[in-house]
Amino acid sequence: MITENKELKKLNTLGLKAKARWFAQPADVASIKRVLSDTRFKGMPILVTGSGSNLLYSKDFNGLLIRPDITSITVTGEDKNSVYLRAGAGVNWDTFVAYCVDRGWGGVENLSHIPGCVGASPVQNIGAYGSEVADSVVSVEFIDLETHKESSLSNDECRFGYRDSIFKRELKSKTIITYVTFCLSKYPVINANYADVAAELSGLKEPGLYDVRKAIIDIRKRKLPDPEVIGNAGSFFKNPVVPEDMAFKLKNENSSLKVFSAQSGFSKIPAAWLIEQCGFKGKRFGNVGVHPNQALVLVAYEGATGEELINLAHSIQKSVLDKFSIEIEPEVNII
Ligand code: EPU
Repeated sequence: MITENKELKKLNTLGLKAKARWFAQPADVASIKRVLSDTRFKGMPILVTGSGSNLLYSKDFNGLLIRPDITSITVTGEDKNSVYLRAGAGVNWDTFVAYCVDRGWGGVENLSHIPGCVGASPVQNIGAYGSEVADSVVSVEFIDLETHKESSLSNDECRFGYRDSIFKRELKSKTIITYVTFCLSKYPVINANYADVAAELSGLKEPGLYDVRKAIIDIRKRKLPDPEVIGNAGSFFKNPVVPEDMAFKLKNENSSLKVFSAQSGFSKIPAAWLIEQCGFKGKRFGNVGVHPNQALVLVAYEGATGEELINLAHSIQKSVLDKFSIEIEPEVNII
């Protein structure tokens, strides 16, 4: 079904008011292709969205917004150690994680409770608690927005990086992801190396997938605001990756700073720490603010506008740059 002038407030977790000129929610590949061929939309900009959990609408979207609604999960193969699952782009991400954990298949349990859809998961290579979706993705199927042809990319071809993939670079705004195929382990190895997770599981002798999932849900519920209660898009900025010597110097000067490893010669600095040091944590500015439990999360109170959020993001970026000479980049997609 195609809707005109669709209100998007309920279709973005920041809860910002904005309208899409046209909105379609096709439930299979044939329907997606039909929408793309509809002459009403010829030449119009196209935006593909999942749950809108990583989007900031700064204005109305004067084009066609497509929300693929393919919701199947199919086992496509298995061998001694692994099982292969093909999930539709519209499957709620955490429903997919629960599906795997319920069956004892490991690999995505550390990504429990992340808002969003399966189709969006490879785009920014969602990651949390020492795990990234890139560790489990086998291939990503998509439709080319221009040629309407179906293609698929292997894990390598997706060129995954920290919160990064080909879908944010060369293929940005050029595809609609339809299915993602995952490889899960029948003999899961628990990854509880992340300090918060280790602490949460410390009372258990041999934690299983359910324990890890529960621990992570509990941590996330404690630290991150529920978008149903207060608008937010999770981490607003990416953690900056800086040369190792710069990170060590900063660490030597600041005992409260935890530094994480990145690619060789570089370290990842928590943007939340930088933002907190600049005095923003828990502060409110009009209808927007910085979450009191996690400085990386910007929140939108009732009546907030995209412009207010962008202004707050800019003043945070400027303070961090002035104080630490480090540039922090938004993780959310600003429309
Ligand atoms: N910290 C502060 N102040 C804060 C919060 C954190 O100084 O207000 C410092 C602490 O030293 C802490 C460190 O930052 O040890 C890391 O904090 P946390 O474990 O909460 O992780 P993060 O780096 O802030 C990243 C992801 C999250 C993911 C967590 C857990 C990014 C941009 N964000 O946040 O992902 O859940 O790690 O693995 O990499 C998301 O992408 O939306 C998201 C929530």
